[in-house]
Amino acid sequence: MSRPKPLAKKAARMLRLMDRAVTEWTIPVIGVEKGRVLRRLIARHGPTRGIEVGSLFGYSAILIAGSMPRGGRLTCVEQNDYLAKFTEYNAAAAGLKGRVRVVVGDALRVLPMLRGAVDFLLIDARKEDYLDYLRAVEPRLVNGALVIADNTGGHLMQHGMVDLAIVGTDRTTRSGDVANKIGTYLKALAARDNNIPFLVALPFSTIDWSLDDGSAIPIEERGGDEVKHMTGKLKDGTIATLQIAPDQSPAANFGFDVTPARLITGFITERGVTPATRDVLATLYPEHAGKRAA
Ligand SMILES: C[S@@+](CC[C@H](N)C(=O)[O-])C[C@H]1O[C@@H](n2cnc3c(N)ncnc32)[C@H](O)[C@@H]1O
Repeated sequence: MSRPKPLAKKAARMLRLMDRAVTEWTIPVIGVEKGRVLRRLIARHGPTRGIEVGSLFGYSAILIAGSMPRGGRLTCVEQNDYLAKFTEYNAAAAGLKGRVRVVVGDALRVLPMLRGAVDFLLIDARKEDYLDYLRAVEPRLVNGALVIADNTGGHLMQHGMVDLAIVGTDRTTRSGDVANKIGTYLKALAARDNNIPFLVALPFSTIDWSLDDGSAIPIEERGGDEVKHMTGKLKDGTIATLQIAPDQSPAANFGFDVTPARLITGFITERGVTPATRDVLATLYPEHAGKRAA
């Protein structure tokens, strides 16, 4: 993957300041680790017409706009008037005045009104609306956006097309096993087989200090209709739902699987990036680790 060009001095200084601020207070910015991945993606694809949904005070806006090639422009959509002004101010202080435009308003209302092609989209706002934000921008995404089938992961890893894998977690045991969306375990196995770092982004709120072993995590079984039907766009543009399995076939639809700590290279936590072990978790969160539940 191409190396990101160094950020201009003013932009780098602003990000350093913000990094300091977010360690003092809990502020939900994308932060250093995810920022690094974003910068590498931008270096690789060289987008010049970006949209960001949800800017807060401009951390990711500065990182993205500052990493785009010459002539790159980023439009930020931020619903909070005060934060939008803050983003504008911070982007200007980072030397990116002409590159960052901030539009104030709810993205669901603003996105359909924006014009022009889009070759980069960062969605970082109200989680339950993500699909709607994407749908609003989809008609303007440039051709060539890459669609990767979920099961391609192992093949991509075998062929040197993956630098590292980062997954989330819904529940983590004190020994470091993680329960995440179904399929995560298979990705971890493929990553191990191909010597690819496999990291888990781990908010400490997901750690269940009362659980020791991942096999004790109850796994949600979801309704069969979810896997027996698919919704998509027909040729005439209408959205339709089709059944793709026989009426009489039941469906096993487990929502999560458990990846054991031994397959995890490291945790990305609010307190740093660490090895995925019981001892490290206990040292990182001594105030919680001591409280064993019955
Ligand atoms: C997680 S923060 C964004 C952090 C930012 N991307 C960064 O890393 O620096 C989420 C932001 O999305 C904004 N937001 C939430 N829902 C929104 C919506 N529907 N339209 C526009 N902004 C929204 C919030 O006001 C908040 O500032």
